[in-house]
Amino acid sequence: MQNFEFKCPTDIIFGRGAEEKTAAKIKEYGGSRVLVVYGGGSAVKSGLLSRIERGFVDAGLSYELMGGVKPNPTLSFARQGVNRAVTFGADFILGVGGGSVIDTAKAIAHGTANPDIDIWAFWTGRAKLEKTLPVGAVLTIAAAGSESSNSAVLTNEETGKKAGINTELNRPAFAIMNPEILFTLPPRQIACGVADIFMHTLERYFTKIEGNNFTDLVAEALLKNVIDNGRIAFTHRKNYDAQSEIMWCGSVSHSNFTELGRMKDFSVHRLGHELSGKFDVPHGESLTAMWGSWARFVFAEDVPRFARYAEKVWGVNSGTDIERARAGIRLTEEFFRELKLPTNFTELGIGVQDEASLAYLADMFSDYGKKTVGVFHPLDRNTALEIYRAANR
Ligand code: NZQ
Ligand code: ZN
Repeated sequence: MQNFEFKCPTDIIFGRGAEEKTAAKIKEYGGSRVLVVYGGGSAVKSGLLSRIERGFVDAGLSYELMGGVKPNPTLSFARQGVNRAVTFGADFILGVGGGSVIDTAKAIAHGTANPDIDIWAFWTGRAKLEKTLPVGAVLTIAAAGSESSNSAVLTNEETGKKAGINTELNRPAFAIMNPEILFTLPPRQIACGVADIFMHTLERYFTKIEGNNFTDLVAEALLKNVIDNGRIAFTHRKNYDAQSEIMWCGSVSHSNFTELGRMKDFSVHRLGHELSGKFDVPHGESLTAMWGSWARFVFAEDVPRFARYAEKVWGVNSGTDIERARAGIRLTEEFFRELKLPTNFTELGIGVQDEASLAYLADMFSDYGKKTVGVFHPLDRNTALEIYRAANR
C-alpha cells in the first residue's frame, strides 16, 4: 500500500427529515447571510426549497435565492453567482441540488472569498486558491459525490473545456442527505447517478496496485451494493432502502475512501468530460459511452486484475483469466444497457462522428498532445483517439 493522507471533514446529516437541520447547521458553521443556489426547478416543485426557507425565517438567517444552474454547469453562471454573493455580502453558500449545483456553489464560494481574481484562474492553475467561504450541500441526486468531495467541475462555454479542480477547500462543511428527496428523480437521472458512482469506484480500482489491500475489498463491496440497489431504484424509485444505499455509496466512493493507498486513474472521466464539453451530454452517460471501449483497449495491462473484478463483482468463477476479464467487461456493459445507459456514440445520441471531430476530442483530452492522462495505462493523444474511434459506433 502506498502512503496516504485522508481527511474528509464534511459533517454528514443523513436520513428522513435531515433538511430540517439546514438552518441550524449553517449557523453552526458561521453563516448568517446565505446565498442559496439551486437548479432548474426540481427543488421548487418538490417543496424542498420552501421547507428550507421556512427554517431560515425561523432561525433569523438572511438569504437570497439564485436558481438556474444547468447540468454541466457553466463558468458564466458561476461568475454571475460571485457577483450576486459579493453584492449581497454573503458569508455562506448553500447548494440545493446535485453535482452541478454543488460545484457551482463551491465556485461561487471561491470567487466571493477572492473577489479580485476571476474564478477560471483557479481552474486553469493561473492562480492558487488559498481561501474560500463555507459551503453547505442539500443533496437531491446521488451521483457526483460533490457533497463530500474535494472536486468542483465547470464548463467554460467560450472554449468548450470542461474541467475540474481538486483542493481540500472544495470539501463542503456539511451535507444534508435525505434519501426521500431522491423519490422524484426520473429513472434516467437515477441511472446516470448509479453509473457515476460505479465509475468513481472503478477509476480507483483499475490502477497500479501494490499487493492485496482493504481498499479493494471496500470497492468490490460498494460496486456490488450499487448494482443491486441501482437495479431496484431504477424501477422502484420510492424504495427508501435502495435509495439510501445508493446515496451513501455515492459519498463514500468519491470522498477518496476508495482510493486510499493507490493513485486514482480517472482517464474515463477525462474522455467523458470532452464529450460533455462538446455535446453537453449528461455526465453519467458520457462515462458509460466510453468505459467499454477504454476497458477493451487497456485490459492487457493487467489481465488478472480485470479477472478478479469479474469474479468478485460479477461472480464469474470459471474460465481463464482472459476469458473472465472479457466476461467482466461484457457484464458491465450489459448492466449499463439494462439501465438504458449508452455504451457507444450512437446510443449516446450524438451519432457517428467524422475523423475531424474525433481529433478535436483527442486534442482537448491531451491539451493538444502536451499531456498524458491516467496511471493504469497512461493515455496520450493517439491512444485517446484510438479509444474515441472504438466508441464511435
Ligand atoms: O436542475 P434541476 O431541476 O434540479 O434538475 C436536475 C438536473 O436536471 C435533476 N434533479 C436533481 N435532483 C432531482 C432532480 N430531478 C428530480 N428530483 C430530484 N430530486 O437531475 C438533473 C441532473 O442534475 P446534476 O446536478 O447535473 O447531476 P449530477 O449530480 O450527476 O451532477 C453532474 C455534474 O457533476 C460533475 C459532472 O461533471 C457534472 O457537471 N461532477 C462533479 C464531481 C465532483 N464535484 O466531485 C465529480 C464527478 O465525477 C462529476 O464530474
Ligand atoms: Zn463522475
